[in-house]
Amino acid sequence: MNSFFELAFTRRSIRKFEDKDIPKEDIEHFVRIAASAPSGCNSQCWRFIAVWDKDVIGKLETAVMKKIADILNSGGKEISPTYLLSKKKMATFFTKAPVVIAVFMTGYKYYDPVFISALKNLGYDDEGIMKLFSNYDLLSVGAAIQNLLLAVHEKGYGACWMSEPAIAGEEINRILGIPVEQRFISLIPVGIPSYTPRNKKMKDFGEVFSIIP
Ligand SMILES: Cc1cc2nc3c(=O)[nH]c(=O)nc-3n(C[C@H](O)[C@H](O)[C@H](O)COP(=O)(O)O)c2cc1C
Repeated sequence: MNSFFELAFTRRSIRKFEDKDIPKEDIEHFVRIAASAPSGCNSQCWRFIAVWDKDVIGKLETAVMKKIADILNSGGKEISPTYLLSKKKMATFFTKAPVVIAVFMTGYKYYDPVFISALKNLGYDDEGIMKLFSNYDLLSVGAAIQNLLLAVHEKGYGACWMSEPAIAGEEINRILGIPVEQRFISLIPVGIPSYTPRNKKMKDFGEVFSIIP
């Protein structure tokens, strides 16, 4: 990769992988880069678990599929087998990667207790305060995940950021032995890409950027 520009512009979500393993040192390298991301109040409110064990990955798949079935069945509507099959494919392709990284959000502490106390006096609860601060805990985990994706791409591997499995978040915490206070955020399957993704449609740049001179 010649430049950061090229790295960022050529990174794509990869959803199919070759049947080849990835060395543990490479995964450790990616997570080190992820964990160097900026975070609100330097809280570094992330935790990563890399899973190679196919039995454990299978349990994650079962948990996600069960949750999808529960949600669909609760609607009382007939769901077509074609829809179910494509839903399963989209929600559980992580099982096809040699390694899956689970990302959790851990605790944070805002640097200014005086301000927090004033906000609480105004009636904000912890969730309301986080929302007021643009959910900087989640933003921080997002920054770490993007670092990770770029590091993966730089080494010639592929990955996909998957937040859909979060529908089974608590179950995933249980399977991986992580306390539920550390909220599950995303799964990231990583492997050698087995295809080249099609070009993606981009919004017109003028739609996303403007200048106030
Ligand atoms: C927060 C977030 C959550 C995502 N969750 C999923 C997911 O659950 N399943 C999936 O297949 N892709 C998921 N993606 C990947 C997006 O679909 C993908 O980034 C988007 O279509 C743009 O394509 P690109 O990554 O190839 O540039 C997610 C991406 C982000 C940033």
